[in-house]
Order: sequence, then C-alpha cells, then structure tokens
Amino acid sequence: MASAPKANSSREADLLANAAQFSFRARMDKKTNEGPIFERGSGSVVWDVGGKEYLDFNSGQMCAALGHNHPTITAAIKAACDTMLHAHSSHYNVKEIELASRLGAIMPRPLQKTLFGESGADANEMAMMIARKYTGGFEIASPHISFHGLSDATRAVTFSGWHAGHGHLPGGTYAIVAPYCYRCPLNQTFPSCKFACLKTSFELLDAQTTGRPAAVITEPLFSAGGVIEPPPGWLKALQEMCHQRNMLLIVDEEQTGLGKLGQMFGFQAEGVVPDIVTVAKHFGGGVGISAVTTTAAIEDKVVREGYAATHSHANDPLICAAGTASLDVIEKENVPEKARKIGAHMRLRLEAFQQRYEMIGDVRGRGQLTGIELVRDRQTKEPATDEGKAVGKFCFQQGLIFSLRRDGSVLRFVPPSTTTDDQIDAAMDLVGKALETVAPKRNMTRGSALKQ
Ligand SMILES: Cc1ncc(COP(=O)(O)O)c(C=O)c1O
Repeated sequence: MASAPKANSSREADLLANAAQFSFRARMDKKTNEGPIFERGSGSVVWDVGGKEYLDFNSGQMCAALGHNHPTITAAIKAACDTMLHAHSSHYNVKEIELASRLGAIMPRPLQKTLFGESGADANEMAMMIARKYTGGFEIASPHISFHGLSDATRAVTFSGWHAGHGHLPGGTYAIVAPYCYRCPLNQTFPSCKFACLKTSFELLDAQTTGRPAAVITEPLFSAGGVIEPPPGWLKALQEMCHQRNMLLIVDEEQTGLGKLGQMFGFQAEGVVPDIVTVAKHFGGGVGISAVTTTAAIEDKVVREGYAATHSHANDPLICAAGTASLDVIEKENVPEKARKIGAHMRLRLEAFQQRYEMIGDVRGRGQLTGIELVRDRQTKEPATDEGKAVGKFCFQQGLIFSLRRDGSVLRFVPPSTTTDDQIDAAMDLVGKALETVAPKRNMTRGSALKQ
C-alpha cells in the first residue's frame, strides 16, 4: 500500500488542465480541481495515474463491492460484446429475462416482478411512481437521515443533505423522524421509547396529509446519513403503520442489499417483506444497472392502469449480463458470509480503538458497511467534525480510501468482498495511526491537527 507514489506529474497535470476546462464539478463530496486521478482497479485496490496504490474501502462509489474488475463480471461483459449490447426496450431480450428470473428467485415471496433501470435514483423514482399508481395517492415520506438519489424526485426524499441551493423540489414529500438512537431527536432511549419516533412521525403525517398518502421509502440501514442502524423491530412497526394507512413500504436496498450486510437483503434481519424493493450499486458489478421488484398483484394493477416506464438502455443485454454475473458471484462466492467475516474483523479492530480513544463515541454497521462516529465528549456528543476530516485526509494521503459522512464526524468503511484479513489490518493500522495523533487517549484536544 502507498507504494510507488512517483506521480506521473506531467500526465496528471495535463489531465487536470483538461478537467479544469471541460469537467463539470458537481460532485457530492469534492469540488476542487485536484488529483488523484484514478486509472486502474483490481479487487480491493485502485491505482492513480502516477502509479500510487490505494486500498479502496469505499468500493469506488460503493459499486465495486464485489471487487474491482471481477473476472466473472468482465467475462460476461466481453461475451455480451460478441452477441448483443443494446436491444429494443419494448421487446423482451434473453439477458433481461434471465436476470429478472434470477432476481425473482432470490427475493422473498410474493416479491417477484422486476423492472430495470440504470441508476439507484431512477429505480427509486420508478418505485415511488408504482406506489402512487397503485395506491392512487401521491404523498411519500422518508426518514430525515435518508439518501435515495440526487434526481429531482429522489432528492425530494433525500433528507441527509444536498438540498441547499436547489429551490423548489417536487411537493408531496415529507421527512419523518429517523431512528437515530445514538442521537435520538426526541431524547428517548430504546426500547423504553416504544418507537416514539414512529408515533410522532405518523401523527405529523396524519396532520399534514391531504388524504392521499402513497408510501414510505426507507433504507434498512442508513448509509449516507451516517451508517445508522434502526433498532430491532423498527422496520416491522413502520410497515404496520404504513399498511394501516394503505401506504406501501418501499425498501431501498441499493446500498445494503445483495449480500453486503451479511444477508442477501437488509430487511431479512427484521423478518419484513416490503411491498417494493430497489437494488443498484454493486448489482451491476461495476456497470450501471438497477432494479425495482414488487408483487405480481401490484405489477398487474399498475400496468392495467397504464403505467409505462422505460429508459433507453434499462434492459440492455450488456448490463443485464453484468447483473446476472454479479448474482453468480454473490451466490457462488457466498458474499453474505464474506461480508459477515469482514464486518466482524473491522468491528474487532474498531471496538479496540473505542476502548483506547474517547473520541470514538459509537461503532456501528453490519458486514461490509461499518462506521464509527467521532465525538469531542462522550457525554455532550459534540460531533468531532474537524478531527474526522483530519483522520480521513491522513489516511487518504497514506493510500486508504473511505468516506466521511455527517460533516466529517462519521468514518464509513465499505471494503469490497475481496478484501483480505491483511488488507483489513493494514487499513485499520492506518486509521489507528491517524487516531493516535488526532485523538490521544483520554486527551481530546479540540481540532488538533495531524502531524504528517
Ligand atoms: C441508499 C441509496 N439509494 C439511492 C442511491 C442513488 O443511487 P445512484 O447514485 O445510482 O442514483 C444511493 C447512492 O449512494 C444510495 O446510497
């Protein structure tokens, strides 16, 4: 790791000059025109144009969670290049039916019918449109730490940020109180709270509705919002309260599904079968494909009532072949089990850090999706945002990529399922080194800078 950092500076400089002139910088976490510029990836490692190696504990944009350039995925893509890349979206094609059948086989009954998209946002948009068409309502609610995409419709139900400067978003969307138990907005404690967050949320929804609620959309574990795990029973109680109002429950499994949390889907740990489920991210093994799966009864009603949804490339044989290959990898390599082992190893290391550094207020997450929340004081829980940013910067410079959420106070680790024990230890050693400087044991100096 961090070997051969000999930057090919003239090449990087040329590329950056072109980027400065031609690349639109509307990125989520970084708006500056600077390196590194990535060029190559394999398994859990990526390289920049200067040849510097990074351990990728962000799995790209979480889409390489099966490993960068997995040979099963690249072989399927190469085969599609020799048969059919693109197809007419109003006719069936072989690869699309194969993929829908495979997905239908791993979804719990009665979830069975699948429609494909190309990104997480478009799958969530389709899910919301299906819920509207099915219920005849239009109002959609989502917890206030959710992330469902940055299209207009999904941004309107993305409450973990990214609203600033966007003016009027589509109406009929509401935030509900998220089950963020470490910082309960209602100052309650689980389980004595008896899901006060849900009770409050639905009282507010009932007061605001025009009488046409359609759905709640939620992640089963909030990733971009800060790796926040709802308490046991929350998802089931949420679904009951939705159904009491004839609302559907849409579970967005785009970050959490397909093995990443140690089970095929996050909702399975809760014994819930949602009405609609969306998957994306590593579903394509590194290329863009997403899916919405629902019951035959819902599909039948909305299609009879004229629901049409298509994107020009959404059922292309190329991306569907990649999707089937990713399911092959998940099943044949037992990715859920790998995820459990990776998660257990990371937790062991992170919990040991928590014993040592007061600054680690919380360790949480499941499987390949694990995080820590940094606080300046365990009692007041003042978020340690500068300190988190300093840890992130130090690790990145040393060749470890992960993301910072909640303005830097949450460190989120999403290593690919290819990650070895040695790679986890190397990554955690770096995090430990960074913490040692920024958060000396029981001696938290506010905003202390890291020594490089
Ligand atoms: C839970 C969740 N839903 C939806 C999305 C949006 O997916 P995309 O960026 O592919 O539109 C993301 C992206 O991070 C996500 O984490």
